[in-house]
Amino acid sequence: MAVIPVAIAGAPYDVVIEEGALARAGALCRPFVRKDSVAVITDENVAAAWRETVTASFAAQGIASQWLVLPAGEATKSWDSLVRVVDWLLGLEIERKDNVVALGGGVIGDLTGFAASMVKRGCGFIQMPTTLLAQVDSSVGGKTAINTAMGKNLVGAFHQPSLVLADPLSLDTLPLRDVRAGYAEVVKYGLIDDPEFFFWCEANAARLLAGEAEAREHAIARSVAAKARIVAADEKETTGVRALLNLGHTFGHALEAQTGFSDRLLHGEGVALGMILAARYSARIGLMSGQDAERVAAHIAAVGLPASLKALDMNCDGQTLKNHMLHDKKMDAGTLPFLLMRGLGQTFLAKDVDLADVAAFLDEELAR
Ligand SMILES: NC(=O)c1ccc[n+]([C@@H]2O[C@H](COP(=O)([O-])OP(=O)(O)OC[C@H]3O[C@@H](n4cnc5c(N)ncnc54)[C@H](O)[C@@H]3O)[C@@H](O)[C@H]2O)c1
Ligand SMILES: [Zn+2]
Repeated sequence: MAVIPVAIAGAPYDVVIEEGALARAGALCRPFVRKDSVAVITDENVAAAWRETVTASFAAQGIASQWLVLPAGEATKSWDSLVRVVDWLLGLEIERKDNVVALGGGVIGDLTGFAASMVKRGCGFIQMPTTLLAQVDSSVGGKTAINTAMGKNLVGAFHQPSLVLADPLSLDTLPLRDVRAGYAEVVKYGLIDDPEFFFWCEANAARLLAGEAEAREHAIARSVAAKARIVAADEKETTGVRALLNLGHTFGHALEAQTGFSDRLLHGEGVALGMILAARYSARIGLMSGQDAERVAAHIAAVGLPASLKALDMNCDGQTLKNHMLHDKKMDAGTLPFLLMRGLGQTFLAKDVDLADVAAFLDEELAR
């Protein structure tokens, strides 16, 4: 078991990483639940796997649980679902000091957190992330959002949870493809500023993906500690520190956009390939060695994540991908901040990247 404090000024909280945390959710949440009932928002897949466990653990503490079960999938991060969640919570007479529970992946966490940010001008919420991506990334740091017709995550709020309970056992029911996609964000923390952790990943990824308890808990705890450190230093992404978390994401989002944000390429898969591209581009302009860049590519390929742009069959050129980047929400007064590497674990924010050169580089990668 690991408890990682997230030291956000004015809104500190703990992330508890524990095998069996969902079975002990009632006891772990007891100090955060003031009444004899609690509202839980989840999706159909998570409910099928974990509703009984969570219901029983609350019941053992004398807490009844009320459930709102939404359809699974990215489409649930919508205006319609937001209205549904908010109205449902208001119907339960949730008060500002109550904590509602988000049980699920990043979709449920982002949606529930956003709803909580507006109910009674902001009520509490507890994150119970059930995907690896949500455990190491989206449940920590307080970014919440929905998607609109104009794009992903364009409407949202910063709203920190009161508690995060991450149960590695929940990954036992998660499809391996989703586990791998979440693993891309784990590798990301090593590449940002923790080379030792990247080396650990190279040596232990297979154990982690096979579900070995010790490897899983170590990877989650180290990732959460990294995210906690970064968001505590720059909660609202104003100083550039939090931007480091976008390593691989500018390239990745362009690939996701070109594949229509569909099951063809999951977010973490786009990030995995995006990190390879960031590493290779860094090597191309002489920032890091080609050997280190290929070491990143080799690890991504070894765990079974997509590692070749050509293999994705994008049916587009570098210019098209570059144009997707120009619509990135991180655009800043006409320039696009890029995360590049000076070496393994030496990521920095580069502001003077030549986009025409990036397009030419992508043409080469598309043919490689
Ligand atoms: N707020 C942030 O800082 C932040 C960071 C990264 C990503 N995100 C957001 O997170 C979302 C992606 O999150 P995700 O990858 O967790 O997707 P998700 O929530 O859609 O979950 C992936 C799939 O796994 C299923 N599932 C979840 N837990 C399960 C379990 N334990 N057993 C079986 N099935 C399970 C879900 O029903 C879904 O089908 C995106 O919307 C992204 O924008 C937010
Ligand atoms: Zn991501």
